[in-house]
Amino acid sequence: MQDVITLALAKGRLAEQTFTLLENLGIDCSEPRQPGRQLVLWDRKNNLRFILVKPSDVPTYVDHGVADLGVVGKDTLLESGRPLYEVLDLTFGQCKLCVAGYAEASAPVTRATFRVATKYPRIARGFYDGKGQTIEIIELHGSVELGPVIGLSDVILDIVESGSTLRANGLSVLEEVCDVSARLVCNRVSLKTKRERIRGLIDGLAEQVRRMKEEQT
Ligand code: PRP
Repeated sequence: MQDVITLALAKGRLAEQTFTLLENLGIDCSEPRQPGRQLVLWDRKNNLRFILVKPSDVPTYVDHGVADLGVVGKDTLLESGRPLYEVLDLTFGQCKLCVAGYAEASAPVTRATFRVATKYPRIARGFYDGKGQTIEIIELHGSVELGPVIGLSDVILDIVESGSTLRANGLSVLEEVCDVSARLVCNRVSLKTKRERIRGLIDGLAEQVRRMKEEQT
């Protein structure tokens, strides 16, 4: 009997793109594609179990070993601070983590402390610590661009994909922090105990990514 493999997926676009890759490997994703209110979904033929969770919870499930594999954005992975084994860059979900604000935000600050509004407090702390700059972090959970617009913060640290949210609010990128894309992460113990099945999935997905890139060029 094959080992059961549990895959934790960030709900939304990343999950949809992962299903497409998995289907190309012969995995039946019809249940997780139509989840309803059910939280645990199966491809029973392949003994593959899916859990669809909030993006920020994917690293938690994989770190605790209740999911063997997970698909999550690099931004979420960095923010989690969990030492997960990142086995594959899936290359979709591309965007950048950037510091953004009004172009004149690099001018001398009038507030005592430079304020950064962000959904990524850990990444922001690390980024500014690296520059030796003291900042105050204002943690927000959405519509972060409002920070400088409404005077809550001097800048934001957030993901920029098309750049349209920044443009619509008169803001621009001031500094790039890092590139982001979807990553396949693995629990370290699972990789040892279910090595054959997990390696098979990783290698299959790596081949799919290679083909996808070829088609794009
Ligand atoms: C994200 C991000 C930016 C926007 C960037 O927000 O926080 O606000 O998308 O995308 P763009 O460069 O293509 O405009 P999301 O849509 O997840 O909503 P939120 O603000 O509620 O977090």
